[in-house]
Amino acid sequence: MSSLIDTYGRVHRDLRVSLTDRCSLRCTYCMPHDFAAWLPSADLLTTDELIDVIESAVAQGIDEIRLTGGEPLLRPDIVEIVARINAIANPPKLSMTTNGLALAQLAAPLVDAGLSRINISLDTLDRERFKKLTFRDRIHDVFAGIDAARNAGLKPVKINSVLMRGVNDDEAIPLLQWALAEGLSLRFIEQMPLDAGGAWSRDAMVTADEIFAQLSTVFTLTPVEVRGSSPAEEFYINGGLASVGIIGSVTRPFCAACDRVRLTSDGQIRACLFSMVETDMRAIVRNAELTSEQKREAMAKAFQATVKAKLPGHGINDPTFIQPTRPMSAIGG
Ligand code: 5AD
Ligand code: SF4
Repeated sequence: MSSLIDTYGRVHRDLRVSLTDRCSLRCTYCMPHDFAAWLPSADLLTTDELIDVIESAVAQGIDEIRLTGGEPLLRPDIVEIVARINAIANPPKLSMTTNGLALAQLAAPLVDAGLSRINISLDTLDRERFKKLTFRDRIHDVFAGIDAARNAGLKPVKINSVLMRGVNDDEAIPLLQWALAEGLSLRFIEQMPLDAGGAWSRDAMVTADEIFAQLSTVFTLTPVEVRGSSPAEEFYINGGLASVGIIGSVTRPFCAACDRVRLTSDGQIRACLFSMVETDMRAIVRNAELTSEQKREAMAKAFQATVKAKLPGHGINDPTFIQPTRPMSAIGG
């Protein structure tokens, strides 16, 4: 088995796969509410093409796959995708990041197909705020989705929250109290400059330090020592076993321990969310002139070359930083 090692010695084991750039919500930090530059469906990888690329990644040493979007549950073939990834020889660990809206219907079939871990995005507990933040009045579907995920046996159910100044920055404590009462595992994520409108500003970003300080007014937080390649700094709450994560993507970058590669829904691999270059895997899997063996070879080379060209960090804090032109919904979170 090969492995994906970059020039800084980082071994890449985690592939984030965006299954579609479409979404049933319009979270302001992810895409403009009137976004219309969707990828044509013919550009998206088909189920077979996707499995080919994932098999190639696993052959290169990827042992963990996270399905994302846009909203991954909008793919009509989502249950089949999960089942087929689990049927790969030496199947990778498989998880999903979703907005949860369709989980009431899909949690049980997904678990039956082999999904074991889930992250659900929720930034507020208030229906009116949710409407404002996502441009859709669907907070009840998220709550129903969370229940369905728990009932289907997904454990732990993780919740991702992004706090924004003047929008929901008063909800750090209520969100954590709610998560504790519900037995959910909560992680706060600093807002990154990835929205399609280019509207990110450093001042509006609620930092990891601020979140820690807010939570510390009510909870005693003690660092969990083992971090590994996880972006979240975890803290035990009040000396107990429950913990909360804070992901300081911007102010406390974890690039030096990054083990992630990304596949966009249109079949491009990226070494980083903030990469300026992509490698076209779709052109390889769709090339009718190549034999299966030639495709496998070309994909292995493409994975290796992409990782070799990976930069040491995201550069968000450099004066020369340029935001990627594709929004988060197209790259995959
Ligand atoms: N900054 C930080 N997190 C983001 N997400 C989407 N856009 C951004 C951003 N600009 C989060 C979502 C979801 C995960 C896929 O990434 O809240 O939980
Ligand atoms: Fe959809 Fe997720 Fe983007 Fe919100 S953050 S619009 S749920 S893809």
